[in-house]
Amino acid sequence: MFELAPSLLSADFTRLAEEIRAVEKGGATILHVDVMDGRFVPNITIGLPVVKSIRKITDLTIDCHLMIVEPGTYAVEFVNAGANMVSVHVEADVHLQRTLTAIREAGGQAGIAINPATPLVSLEEALPFADFVLLMSVNPGFGGQKFIHTSVDKLRRLRRMIDERGLPTRIEIDGGIDAGNIQKIVESGAEIIVAGSAVFGKGNPTEAAREMIEAATVWV
Ligand code: DX5
Ligand code: ZN
Repeated sequence: MFELAPSLLSADFTRLAEEIRAVEKGGATILHVDVMDGRFVPNITIGLPVVKSIRKITDLTIDCHLMIVEPGTYAVEFVNAGANMVSVHVEADVHLQRTLTAIREAGGQAGIAINPATPLVSLEEALPFADFVLLMSVNPGFGGQKFIHTSVDKLRRLRRMIDERGLPTRIEIDGGIDAGNIQKIVESGAEIIVAGSAVFGKGNPTEAAREMIEAATVWV
């Protein structure tokens, strides 16, 4: 069974609590929070105080996607702020296993995020230390970008890589996903689907979340 993880990046920041309740009503079970530092990606978004505030108003799983340099410095702080899942980029961390282990020891689920141009082989040694992989299907930094079409093949290869090793690692995918391509992506092995503009960019997040879930499951 897959889970829908709306990305708050495309939500109305002046009405975050309402936006969260709206997607919860639509069937979303995870909130994807994009943390950007203006260095790893060319954009700055939100950080620890916002995560702490969100934690107070929802029981949904909070999933923090750290698009920051040297994520090992902050990863555990995000767990302590209330994040259930924290992912760090393989491209940003030279001590990846250490960071993943620290996230787990703090009580969080540890994820490895991987950019579209980074080969899957770079995950190999760290996979047993991760609870999930966040496969980027756009280059991170902004919402509303176009899905990079080669990501479906990469997703299938990642699924195989995990299954061949007999690992329980879940696959999350992020970027350019909407009601038109979600079904193919779920069929290709993704279990957590991030969607920002497709959920929050259309005026009715409850309806949009429902539509996405329906589009993903209707033929399965
Ligand atoms: C991009 C972020 C995504 C983004 C997805 O850097 O990691 O989570 O919010 O937005 P959409 O679904 O609009 O591509
Ligand atoms: Zn993200």
